[in-house]
Amino acid sequence: MIGIDLSDRSIKIVEIRGDDNPTLRTLCWSPLVPNLLRRGVVQDVALVSEALKEAMLKCSPTPVEGGDVVASIPEVQSFVRVLEVPVMSEREMDEAVQWAVRRHIPFDLDRVYIDWEELELASGQPQHKQVLVGAAQRDVVDPLLTVLDSLGFNVVALELEAQAVMRCLLPRDIKENRDIRGVLVIDLGATSTNVILFDQGAMRFTASIQVGGDDLTQQLAHDMNLSPVEAMEIKAKVGAGFTKENPAAAQALESATLNLARMVERAVQEMTVQLPREQRVRTILLTGGNANLVGIKELFGSVFTNIPVQYGNPWTNLQQEKKRTSLNLTIGDAMHFTTAIGLALRQVDY
Ligand SMILES: Nc1ncnc2c1ncn2[C@@H]1O[C@H](COP(=O)(O)OP(=O)(O)OP(=O)(O)O)[C@@H](O)[C@H]1O
Ligand SMILES: [Mg+2]
Repeated sequence: MIGIDLSDRSIKIVEIRGDDNPTLRTLCWSPLVPNLLRRGVVQDVALVSEALKEAMLKCSPTPVEGGDVVASIPEVQSFVRVLEVPVMSEREMDEAVQWAVRRHIPFDLDRVYIDWEELELASGQPQHKQVLVGAAQRDVVDPLLTVLDSLGFNVVALELEAQAVMRCLLPRDIKENRDIRGVLVIDLGATSTNVILFDQGAMRFTASIQVGGDDLTQQLAHDMNLSPVEAMEIKAKVGAGFTKENPAAAQALESATLNLARMVERAVQEMTVQLPREQRVRTILLTGGNANLVGIKELFGSVFTNIPVQYGNPWTNLQQEKKRTSLNLTIGDAMHFTTAIGLALRQVDY
């Protein structure tokens, strides 16, 4: 299965083989020129197709030629929520879900695709069932499908980014394993930072903050009067927090990172305020390329006091440490590929 993660700044492709022992066959990454996608929405089908085709050829150790694909719908353009509906027949339930969604969704209902699944877990109210609802705007989905069709891919599914991230980082048996409680994944990307709350077999909430690693780089460039390239180099070398080498840069990054962590904290507070206490955050996993920023784990830890902060392991459901070394991929590199790996793992879905 091929996983394609298209974002405003980059294309990431991963191919995974094997159902029982999923193994990473090949992967690649390619930057995108600005404005081909805006907030995850394809702006120019022909140019995005071309960029994707070029990226496929760059995959190593072998180029990607085509086949079954799962691609992602960007977090900012999607909606995930657990809703409660009365117990009824499946057909009636579909209608009930549409009604329930109408009250919650921030988009016009005629212009979205909606998918839902029943959760096996007991609802808070008797005579009610919990359903996990995902929705995405047609304006986002349709051009993406056109791009993939134009390259001859067989599109198996389009998935919300959050689904893919969870599939990559959490163990495969999570649906059955009710012990996994209150896991908050923070995907630190280039243009956005996405948060997903997972509890007892299902995602409960997602939120997208339109600030990412590139904003930290820009802030550093601004504060220290550097070019964007210099700022990126210093950011990767110095990190956030204290260093003797370049204390001013480290401090600028620290304050930008703390601002981001506080924004995430506010979003989490907003999304968990209605949840029962036992569904609150118990552990935090960081992922995405910006999780490579030295010191970020400690800085998030200082904002989310009393909650352990760790790095998510993108290798959780993949075979062979050996293969990773042969692909020359560090865990830090792999954190950029969390979404793409999760998409490509769909064939071994739990
Ligand atoms: N060593 C490093 N130290 C600090 N930041 C890094 C490092 N390596 C990469 N980054 C940052 O990671 C970010 C890219 O991460 P990622 O590949 O997850 O983004 P993306 O998926 O393309 O973006 P988005 O999900 O927001 O659309 C960039 O902002 C980059 O500056
Ligand atoms: Mg991303």
